[in-house]
Amino acid sequence: MSSIKIQKICCIGAGYVGGPTMSVIADKCPDLEIRVVDINKERIDAWNDSDLNKLPIFEPGLDRIISRTRGRNLFFSTEMEKSISDADMIFISVNTPTKTKGLGAGQASDLSWVEASARQVAKYAKGHTIVIEKSTLPVRTAQAIKEILKTTDKETQKNEISKTFSVLSNPEFLAEGTAINDLEKPDRVLIGGEDSDSIDALVKIYLNWVPYEQIICTNLWSSELSKLAANAFLAQRISSINSISAFCEATGADVQEVAKAIGTDKRIGNQFLSAGPGFGGSCFKKDILNLVYLSGYFGLPEVANYWNQVVVLNTWQQDRIYKIVLEKLFGTVNGKNIAILGFSFKANTNDTRESPAIRISSDLLEEGAILSIYDPKVTFERIEEDFEKFSFNNQGIWKMANSIPEALKNVDAVLILTAWDEFFGLDWNYLASLMRSPAWVFDTRSVVNRQEIDNTGVNLWKLGAVSYTHLRAHETVLDVVCRLLLEKK
Ligand code: NAD
Ligand code: UGA
Repeated sequence: MSSIKIQKICCIGAGYVGGPTMSVIADKCPDLEIRVVDINKERIDAWNDSDLNKLPIFEPGLDRIISRTRGRNLFFSTEMEKSISDADMIFISVNTPTKTKGLGAGQASDLSWVEASARQVAKYAKGHTIVIEKSTLPVRTAQAIKEILKTTDKETQKNEISKTFSVLSNPEFLAEGTAINDLEKPDRVLIGGEDSDSIDALVKIYLNWVPYEQIICTNLWSSELSKLAANAFLAQRISSINSISAFCEATGADVQEVAKAIGTDKRIGNQFLSAGPGFGGSCFKKDILNLVYLSGYFGLPEVANYWNQVVVLNTWQQDRIYKIVLEKLFGTVNGKNIAILGFSFKANTNDTRESPAIRISSDLLEEGAILSIYDPKVTFERIEEDFEKFSFNNQGIWKMANSIPEALKNVDAVLILTAWDEFFGLDWNYLASLMRSPAWVFDTRSVVNRQEIDNTGVNLWKLGAVSYTHLRAHETVLDVVCRLLLEKK
């Protein structure tokens, strides 16, 4: 086991990864003192708010962990210098978005925040420090971090301050909405590195709650690449099932039935086969685009094209949904009221980064629709910011609704974009009475049962299934398909 004793940890970046990850480490390792630092004072203040409803991140179970660790062995602060210099181990957990300008713009990751963090570490660290990449990074970034740490190391050695570093990769696989469970019971923990003493020091921390067999140690580059590959594989499954959803609508197959049928094959597996409005979240698109960029960089254009198609299909799925809404509403939504149920990119998070709701709503607003948006956790300010960033020619009006009935009042259609629990089992008899006839429900997340809509007079379009309005009395789905094919001829 490691000869390095870890007592103090610093995590740079108090975001969706840094906050929950450090909270769980603090909870499982009460003897460690953990400081999470961030340049964003507002965010740090929110982490320190005595009202746990004001934490900057909504994540089921997080408030309970914060209430027992914060102030005990978990601290949030903006005090960079002391937190770094006191630490034996530093996690870099800062944002790595896609570059918006310069070489690789639109594909490569912008590593400015990682570089700035490494420079701060190089400047303030004392003695031997283990530096851990927690952010998702392009393969071989550890080399760049080592260079930055080494250069400054030489400078400080001139001043007779001795400091040494060891760099490890320890990517994070948590998913938002289930972060606490994912951190407490991870499928695996991945650690990449060359220095066995430092690797052992990190392994020892995880062993407090993760079985040894689930801790995978690899070389640095395998660890960095595995994180990108894992996200690419997951996103690829979603694009695959979404492509099949369009096929189902065209043929009369049902995507849920198909997903079940193929998912029972153990080699395929039944996870990540829910068709939907396309994947959102801060990482899938960014990480695939990064893989595409790196493939090009390493002279592998066919590999780049292959992965790029996963993103192309994802955007197509969102466009397709907006066009279907338009078509069903007689080709125009100008001046029509449409309710949007769910704005976050998935249920159980207040995160809207890359949410399909942004593109689909923007497209509808551009067509002049009047949107009433309801989401249990996303704020007005967040949506306003999202629309501002997603530059489009906004012809429409939008407002927030405080409840589902408020959102559905007088609307021509409702578009369900996130599978929040409260959207299941709604009283459609009552809700239909609030809507303007002929009313449409567009369900992109399979939350509405066809039976619940029966006898309400509302039309139902369900992603990956035959549209309910096509069914005539005594017709089977096969009859409908034959009729539609004949009609098309
Ligand atoms: P985030 O934007 O929520 O948080 C990053 C934080 O870092 C911000 O609060 C920012 O102010 C802070 N920061 C940036 N530069 C800093 C600096 N020099 N000093 C101090 N603070 C600084 O991002 P996130 O969602 O937590 O993601 C962080 C990394 O983890 C990314 O690389 C992402 O790809 C990866 N990741 C994210 C998730 C997820 O579910 N969000 C899951 C796994 C991995
Ligand atoms: C994803 C990965 O699941 C995590 O392992 C990874 O750590 C993380 O990205 C990251 O690197 O940031 P996350 O984006 O938080 O986690 O959430 P997911 O559950 O993966 O969902 C991503 C998107 O795919 C959501 O929009 C979700 O609605 C969609 N999705 C997911 C589907 O449309 N169908 C599915 O079957 C599953």
